[in-house]
Amino acid sequence: MGFVGLTTAAIFAKRGMRVYGVDNDLTKLHMIKRSKLPFFEPGLQPLVRSAMASGMFIPTEDLHKAIKESSIVFICVGTPMKQDGSVDFQYLEQVSINLGKEIESSDRFIVICVKSTVPPGTSEKIVLGNIEKTSGKKCNKDFGIAMTPEFLREGSAVSDSDNPHLIVIGSNNNKTAKIVKDLFVSIYGSKSNILQTNIVSAELIKYANNSFLATKISFINTIANICNNIPGADVDVIAKAIGTDPRIGPQFLAAGPGYGGSCFPKDIAGFIHYCDDIGYDPILLKATDKVNKGQVNIIMDILTKKLGSLEGKAITILGTAFKKNTDDIRESVSIKLIFQLIALGANVKVHDPLALNNTRLALSDKVKYASSLESALKDSECIILMTDWDEYKSIDRHLFQKDTKKCMLLDTRRLLVSADMQGIDYVALGRPIEINDG
Ligand code: UDX
Repeated sequence: MGFVGLTTAAIFAKRGMRVYGVDNDLTKLHMIKRSKLPFFEPGLQPLVRSAMASGMFIPTEDLHKAIKESSIVFICVGTPMKQDGSVDFQYLEQVSINLGKEIESSDRFIVICVKSTVPPGTSEKIVLGNIEKTSGKKCNKDFGIAMTPEFLREGSAVSDSDNPHLIVIGSNNNKTAKIVKDLFVSIYGSKSNILQTNIVSAELIKYANNSFLATKISFINTIANICNNIPGADVDVIAKAIGTDPRIGPQFLAAGPGYGGSCFPKDIAGFIHYCDDIGYDPILLKATDKVNKGQVNIIMDILTKKLGSLEGKAITILGTAFKKNTDDIRESVSIKLIFQLIALGANVKVHDPLALNNTRLALSDKVKYASSLESALKDSECIILMTDWDEYKSIDRHLFQKDTKKCMLLDTRRLLVSADMQGIDYVALGRPIEINDG
């Protein structure tokens, strides 16, 4: 019942399916049962509430009952990143063993769909393998396996799930593929965009999709880093222009501090690890990852060149969430930056409209927490805008400390390029940065 599972369950229920939402985290389940979400996601809470009220969505810890009542099961467990970049399969292993135990006593043909993002071969090796081993039953005869990757984004998970641009059904068996296709057609209609393929291609589609988007971001960040050094250059003008070329397209060309979140960093790392394992050196993916990890150093470089020593400097961070409209700070570049600033002795104050609770869990008393923009900006010598929250676009310049001799604002998302920044040393990633006046 994470982002993918809970959103999928709520949308399927809204569209007429009876859905059991299973999780072994009882605290999380109790919250959901009381219509409280364990994370913030716009529009999801009312959907979950009405899905439960209609009786179509049943959150439960009772896997046995859920499987007994279900004909199709979606595995939506996390596949986090291990220290070495490889994928941690522990949740997938556990859930497929538990499913095997349930399938052992079932005499119906149940289809198991893997929605978790996994390297090629995983659905068959781990899920199919564990179910066959634990249940003693045979895939395609007694149960089916499919891979149905998910493309929803945090912050717009509800509309992404309600109107998927593509439904991928990966299966190596006609009977299974038909059952899954029939389900998606009854949920989304016969005109929905469905692509049927085999399991391994479905697994690869998800990795390729995320890798391409991440590469697009690292590409535009490379252009931004070049623009930092060229008088008159503006990355947004360049992005707008190249985005009109239909072969390129306008999306995912917003330069910034680098991509974060629960998917891109771990999926690129997992894909690289997988490629290395099969004996192919994925130099493009490695470059994407390297550019992304380098963005925080570009920011640190600008700060130290402009401000000199950061020891004792009062620095405000605007935004700790990895992007707007979420309280998620996983792999947030902002958090990585804060750790570097603290290590150099800066006094850091943080502000975020939604993510402060999660930020406290990561940073405890290492930083100060500002509950309003006004207190965030007060007495700051340097403000770094990290997250693209809409409310930061309209920061009133009078909020800036009036008697500040030299307050610098580093705008990594260029939200304030058109604001009146009189009296502020305004610097934007992707625009020329003059270092010598610092
Ligand atoms: C991503 C994929 O978009 C989604 O299809 C997949 O299912 C899960 O991973 P998500 O991580 O929720 O979704 O957010 P996304 O909107 O893709 O943003 C990821 C990161 O890239 C954020 O840190 C965001 O700020 C950054 N980003 C995105 C940019 O820096 N520039 C852009 O132009 C777009």
